[in-house]
Amino acid sequence: MTDLISLAANAPKAELHLHIEGSFEPELMFAIAQRNGVKLPFASVEDIRAAYNFSNLQEFLDIYYQGMSVLLCERDFYDLTWAYLKRAAADNVIHTEIFFDPQGHTARGVAFADAIGGIARALGDAQDKLGMSSKLIMCFLRHLSEEDALATLEEAQPFMALIDGVGLDSSEIGHPPSKFERVFAKARELGLHIVAHAGEEGPPDYIWQALDILKVERVDHGNRALEDGKLVARLADEGMCLTVCPLSNLKLCVVDDMKAHPIRAMLDAGLKPCINSDDPSYFGGYVNDNFAALIDALPLTRTDVEQLLRNSFEGAFLAAEEKNKALRRLEDYLLSVG
Ligand code: ADE
Ligand code: ZN
Repeated sequence: MTDLISLAANAPKAELHLHIEGSFEPELMFAIAQRNGVKLPFASVEDIRAAYNFSNLQEFLDIYYQGMSVLLCERDFYDLTWAYLKRAAADNVIHTEIFFDPQGHTARGVAFADAIGGIARALGDAQDKLGMSSKLIMCFLRHLSEEDALATLEEAQPFMALIDGVGLDSSEIGHPPSKFERVFAKARELGLHIVAHAGEEGPPDYIWQALDILKVERVDHGNRALEDGKLVARLADEGMCLTVCPLSNLKLCVVDDMKAHPIRAMLDAGLKPCINSDDPSYFGGYVNDNFAALIDALPLTRTDVEQLLRNSFEGAFLAAEEKNKALRRLEDYLLSVG
């Protein structure tokens, strides 16, 4: 088991489900709050961490939006992103696809240019200094209106060269993918990649809608797909990647126990899950911690772990040549460890 944990830890991998605002460690949050003269409703880093006990998605989101409210200028977004990228490199992430929530910033008066500028500058440095490639995915907050999402897509126009895709996140139940049909149609016309959170708390029907109405290329989470045999068959048939987030699922009570995590069932059903950290600062672990938690709790074989690692590259929005290069790097690593 320990061997499998280190095999996974040392392997080159991609991370495909990471909210940059969810990587905000309390130490950095305090430092940025102080330099911006913003008061946090917590006395210490320990107090912040002690508040990270959630019984559902909404309880987490309330504290997540509060945390990001100290981010005001370009440098803040750079520091946040650079801290994640360095930490991800330590987990042997060689390619990352990052979500950001512009509406969580522009609604507070932060300039779109400052948020995306700081994130993109750090991603450029990751390529130059860490050899890590990346894509940037702009998420729409589903608890807000479609008009707000359309206005955000409009506001993003001058920055299209920095944006690779759009996603859908925030409070799932009561905000089905169908609410965002028009804005996703526009995003597709612009040639953007399409993903959406679906089936984290919401029913299988939301996953059908993500496929049929939004025309997603990946499903973020997708846990509840397993309740619907026809949906499982469709996802398996299409080789649809599911970006699964085990520690997130545990912290948000999507699963009661890691031993009950559906990753085993997903693999057995021929689905294509990969492993991700979602909001690592809030959920207690980066991508390698997620692999370790699963391997500890479940009867995963080396073949399973290898498949999960391969899926991370196969599901990535890399061009074919880059994808093959990354997959070859993984296969070389797997051969080298015997
Ligand atoms: N925003 C950040 N993390 C999220 C999650 N796990 N689900 C939905 N929205 C999110
Ligand atoms: Zn997420």
